[in-house]
Amino acid sequence: MTTSDLLDHAEALIRERRAVRAYRPDPVPEATLRAVFSLATAAPSNANTQPWHVEVVSGAARDRLSADLLAAHAANRISTDFPYDDGLYQGVHARRRVEAGRTMYGALEIARDDVEGRRAYDAESLGFYGAPHVALLFTPVNAEARVAADIGMYSQTLLLALTAHGIASCPQGLLGFYASTIRESLGVRDRKVLFGVSFGYADDTAPINRITIPRAPLERRPGSTPSPTRTRP
Ligand SMILES: Cc1cc2nc3c(=O)[nH]c(=O)nc-3n(C[C@H](O)[C@H](O)[C@H](O)COP(=O)(O)O)c2cc1C
Repeated sequence: MTTSDLLDHAEALIRERRAVRAYRPDPVPEATLRAVFSLATAAPSNANTQPWHVEVVSGAARDRLSADLLAAHAANRISTDFPYDDGLYQGVHARRRVEAGRTMYGALEIARDDVEGRRAYDAESLGFYGAPHVALLFTPVNAEARVAADIGMYSQTLLLALTAHGIASCPQGLLGFYASTIRESLGVRDRKVLFGVSFGYADDTAPINRITIPRAPLERRPGSTPSPTRTRP
């Protein structure tokens, strides 16, 4: 493959991937799952440690996990392995978050002050948006932020591998708020839950799957020639 072919493919693949939040129920064939998860192992990691552990959950186990998550949600049984603070995102980051929420909830016709509507949508996302599969991303039990970088590398490689096979996905940080429930439901011990990725074939008729979330443009660093480019911090 020439460099220009590779560039065309990379551009298409990277831009094609989106967070998809409505799925058809059809499962992904076993052979395709094997191809995708084999490809994802090509992800880079710090000193080639490959510290990820992935559980792909489908069928009855997926339904059981979703029921367990919904029960935890109804009982407000939150448990996080990696601390979360509502003030985590500040300034421009907080504004981008609000803007993305506005676009998403706008497509769902859920108003900003509709707390019940948003809570009901959280419940829907604990059904993996109807996706037939969810991959749970675990770290070793002693992991901290540095290991999360490795899991991020793996996850984006996984998302692109899925996209290349025509399979849609949605990373779900929300799942990391139910770490104990996930461990118990899947019988996983001695690992921490970072987040999950729902995946399957997109329901292209759903309005929520037609949204586009924009990115900050590249900017020039003032006063430098030649200018390195950067995105806003
Ligand atoms: C670590 C991580 C956690 C995320 N958590 C959620 C989530 O809990 N629920 C959700 O609907 N989308 C979630 N997303 C998807 C983002 O909202 C989405 O990637 C972002 O808005 C950009 O949109 P795009 O992926 O369609 O380009 C998450 C993405 C990442 C990378």
